[in-house]
Amino acid sequence: MPATVVIGAQWGDEGKGKVVDLLAERSEVVARYQGGNNAGHTIVAGDEVYKLHLVPSGILYPGTLCVIGNGTVVDPGALCAEIDGLEERGVSLETLRISGNAHLIMPYHVMLDGASEMKLGKFSIGTTRRGIGPCYQDKAARVGIRAQDLLDPKILVRKLEIALEAKNEILEKLYGLPRLAPADVAEDLLAHAERLRPFIADTALIIDRALRDGKRVLFEGAQGTMLDIDHGTYPFVTSSNPVAGAACTGTGIGPTRIDSVLGVTKAYVTRVGEGPFPTELDDDAGRHMLEQGNEFGTTTGRQRRCGWLDLVALRYAVRLSGMTQLALTKLDVLSGLDRVRLCVAYRDRDGARLTDFPYHQTVFHGCTPEYEEMAGWDEDLSGCRSLEDLPPRAREYVDAIAAAVEVPITLIGTGQGRHQVIDQVEV
Ligand code: GDP
Ligand code: IMO
Ligand code: MG
Repeated sequence: MPATVVIGAQWGDEGKGKVVDLLAERSEVVARYQGGNNAGHTIVAGDEVYKLHLVPSGILYPGTLCVIGNGTVVDPGALCAEIDGLEERGVSLETLRISGNAHLIMPYHVMLDGASEMKLGKFSIGTTRRGIGPCYQDKAARVGIRAQDLLDPKILVRKLEIALEAKNEILEKLYGLPRLAPADVAEDLLAHAERLRPFIADTALIIDRALRDGKRVLFEGAQGTMLDIDHGTYPFVTSSNPVAGAACTGTGIGPTRIDSVLGVTKAYVTRVGEGPFPTELDDDAGRHMLEQGNEFGTTTGRQRRCGWLDLVALRYAVRLSGMTQLALTKLDVLSGLDRVRLCVAYRDRDGARLTDFPYHQTVFHGCTPEYEEMAGWDEDLSGCRSLEDLPPRAREYVDAIAAAVEVPITLIGTGQGRHQVIDQVEV
């Protein structure tokens, strides 16, 4: 499978970093196609824990080309800090490439993200406050600054002057924040530009050539389907499209080049930030998931909300991205629960049974889950490496999920470690 998209099937933090790292061992290129440093992708390699935000999760394999695609948004300071942190730990960044068309997160984007969340008060989205939304806004408004602008200081200053004319009014008049001088912003940016310039490249061409040469390319999604700006639980979403289709626009290759879509889902559900979550738990089972799964955000450290696996939402995610296989992570976390539950349908406010994800937010907000309950298991799964190693009840749980979503589960997570998996993926 030369071109595989790896994408979150839930509200993010499904374990995409671990899955991409695992498959990167067998791939020549890993490309991020959307999102920015709102993402936090964890890789546990032996005693070492890596938390990647923008750098693709293939970077631990020397020789694997790592592309930050045009659909991403790049905070130059945050990226420089991430590169420095990795280099200090002996990771080579020689194979990193940044699309010249990727938009840059400016300091005013970060300021506006925080200020708008404050102003929304109890209606806030709970963003990561990394400036993601305001940066994508400027991209769409055609006043964004792109990576390639770092290569031409004259154009950079001119573009900053234009962008800041309007932004300063908003910062000052709407939010009571200080105005920014274009020359100051440019000076800070150019300091980072020195560092980033060697990485900036025509990444769409690089990926095309790799595919043409029969190399294996992974497209690494950030966030998850339910945070997709078009298909997620709007407005409690991120400002990009995590769904698999965006791997094409976000890296500059055509849809006919994609061979396989691997969705990543936890064996339960978590969500950080605000917004509806039908299977959310506030009981011992939820606390078990929080504690055993160590469910605290990789980027912001916030406690993740936990709940039972939602098969209605999972089927929706499979459909939206045309998933051809699923990775089921963190199955080990459910060990020790007496009973496990799967949400097989929703009931709307009138009691009607829904098995397709409702398109109308008012209906969705009023939905309650209908569960199928199964016996749990006590066995520690951390040493399981094949389906035969799984205790029968865990196996029944996995089979019930695969049957409900009609997609094969080709990878199962049995622990945090990079090789704690049952791996049947063909990349
Ligand atoms: P991502 O954003 O999708 O890459 O996921 P995060 O890294 O934010 O969060 C997933 C967390 O679960 C990380 O701490 C991973 O190390 C951890 N993890 C991933 N897969 C497994 C697994 O199968 N079992 C356990 N126990 N932890 C896992
Ligand atoms: P990874 O790639 C989980 C959530 C935020 C908030 C909403 C909008 O690690 O799975 P934003 O800062 O993007 O404007 O915030 O999206 N969010 C994530 N939740 N994992 C992520 O990334 C997320 N990136 C953003 O918590 O609810
Ligand atoms: Mg994460």
